[in-house]
Amino acid sequence: MLLRNTMLWLAGNDLVKRTIVRTPLSRALARRFVAGETREDALAAARTLNQGGASVSLDYLGENVHSAAEAEATTRTYCDLLHRIAEHGLNCNVSLKLTALGLDIQRELCVRNMRQVLDVARQTNSFVRIDMEGSDYTQLTLDLWEELFRDHGYQNVGIVLQSYLYRSAADTERAIQLRARVRLCKGAYKEGREIAYPNKVDVDRNFVALARRLLCDGNYPGLATHDPAIIAWTKRFVTEHGIDRSSFEFQMLYGIRRDLQRELLADGYRLRIYVPFGEAWYPYLMRRMAERPANLLFILRSLRHG
Ligand code: FDA
Repeated sequence: MLLRNTMLWLAGNDLVKRTIVRTPLSRALARRFVAGETREDALAAARTLNQGGASVSLDYLGENVHSAAEAEATTRTYCDLLHRIAEHGLNCNVSLKLTALGLDIQRELCVRNMRQVLDVARQTNSFVRIDMEGSDYTQLTLDLWEELFRDHGYQNVGIVLQSYLYRSAADTERAIQLRARVRLCKGAYKEGREIAYPNKVDVDRNFVALARRLLCDGNYPGLATHDPAIIAWTKRFVTEHGIDRSSFEFQMLYGIRRDLQRELLADGYRLRIYVPFGEAWYPYLMRRMAERPANLLFILRSLRHG
């Protein structure tokens, strides 16, 4: 827990960031988790994964942008990406963060940008997943998503719920009631015990409880985890309850547990790989490091040589 918190602190420290981003070792490490810096890199990775049987969600890295111009540039990147995905005939949608589309600057700007992306997704018959950020954004994200989904009638936008948050049980019921598509994950940010389960065993238990609800009554849930015990539980649960394999998908991150990815595909389960790309890979890399503190060694070494 201490190491995890240290990594998440490093994710937000500018001086450390400037040092780490420059070192060849951390750039090499980033390549394991990030498909590359350009759209071509991302589309090539998507094609390779499609050929192996997995579907894909592309994430253009960059969060908490500080100017409207940056948010609009990100919006254009997503629109272009959706067109290219359609042109290339890829089995691929997109994931994005509302703070990358201007949520910190002005809510209306973010709604406008989201509507542009969702209009292109609608034209190209695609789907947009709004990633879930830290808890300062949970309510803002869910409110904005519901406005788009319910009030503006965009059925092609889904959300993410995190099993470490106590509130996610109620949010799951709300999503089920709305027939909305949910990606369920454990949660990757540093959260206090007032709002989040402090012990991993409870986070895991809650994941299973929420997954059970979504598998029974949800709309094509995405179960986003590399946890072998939860994956084994899911396989047993769907078999015992006669739940069709085409009514849900597993989701995993690019570069993590490729062995499990291959296994699921070979067993005939649906699997979507979340593929991040872009130059702003630092906070993403730090969150992946925090999930596996053994990786701290890489960072310390890169600082020493940097
Ligand atoms: P857990 O942490 O228990 O790990 C299980 C096993 O997976 C480990 O034993 C190890 O083998 C492997 N593993 C996990 N992380 C690894 C790493 N970094 N390096 C190497 N091996 C690793 N979070 C969030 O807050 N908002 C979001 O929108 C998303 N979106 C998202 C999409 C997708 C497709 C996935 C898979 C995950 C997310 N997450 C996320 C991240 C999620 O919340 C969580 O932090 C990670 O998935 C790690 O948790 P696991 O469920 O894999 O279990």
